[in-house]
Amino acid sequence: MSWNPDLYHKFQEERFAPFHNLAELITVKQGMEVIDLGCGTGELTKLLSEKLPSSRILGIDSSPEMLEHANIKSAPGLSFELRSITDIEGEWDLIFSNAAIQWVPEHRELIPKLFSHILPGGQLAVQLPSSHSHPTQNMVLETGMEEPYRKALKGWSRSYSVLTIREYSELLFESRGEDIVVFERIYPHVLRDSYAILDWLSGTAVLPYLERLPEELREPFLGVLGDKLKKAYPGSPVFYPFNRIFFSAHKPKSTSVIQEEN
Ligand SMILES: C[S@@+](CC[C@H](N)C(=O)[O-])C[C@H]1O[C@@H](n2cnc3c(N)ncnc32)[C@H](O)[C@@H]1O
Repeated sequence: MSWNPDLYHKFQEERFAPFHNLAELITVKQGMEVIDLGCGTGELTKLLSEKLPSSRILGIDSSPEMLEHANIKSAPGLSFELRSITDIEGEWDLIFSNAAIQWVPEHRELIPKLFSHILPGGQLAVQLPSSHSHPTQNMVLETGMEEPYRKALKGWSRSYSVLTIREYSELLFESRGEDIVVFERIYPHVLRDSYAILDWLSGTAVLPYLERLPEELREPFLGVLGDKLKKAYPGSPVFYPFNRIFFSAHKPKSTSVIQEEN
């Protein structure tokens, strides 16, 4: 998918806050091997490396556009690689991911897989948006189902892989996770007006639609979506509550299986 780093960073302050809340969940140790899944432009990977000064951090992302920015920020102990989250390799003291795994399907397979790449005593710490039931997301879906977009998209619409917090906690437990922490939080954003919501959505949720639409239908698609948003949010400012899920768990230090007593 083609990301636009400039548009994504338009709401930098709002997007950075959950990163800091996720970082607060990390058990900091000396000399950790860390991987940041879906590192984007690497700004936050760099911030992470500053919070973990004696660790080695690899940021991976599947978008060459986002990584182009990241590579500028490579430093001793901090590197970046073009790679998909599903192609994760190696074993890590910390697998970290901020606002990225919502783009990966099949979380029931993904979470155990990620956990299998954690070293004994290591940690998985993830934040992902869970705002897919917000009315604005339905407006995006709706627009994609209207003509001429429906035909151009060949009936495609975005499906969501995000599970409930209960399901994430169960997956972590089934993966033998310890110190399981799972919660959902609302970030109460106050945006200027409906155009600001359109800008927000254009930096993320709308991208898979724009990517699949021919050039000449992209602006009209944004126009129709913009009209829907303006109708629903005519005033200024607009309240835009945004849900995010956080989860973290540690792998036991000893991987020996507990024998049941006879
Ligand atoms: C919303 S951005 C978040 C970037 C960064 N973690 C942050 O918090 O600013 C999502 C990132 O996930 C990346 N991404 C999406 N699917 C991916 C996949 N399957 N493998 C690797 N990266 C992926 C995108 O390219 C994008 O850079």
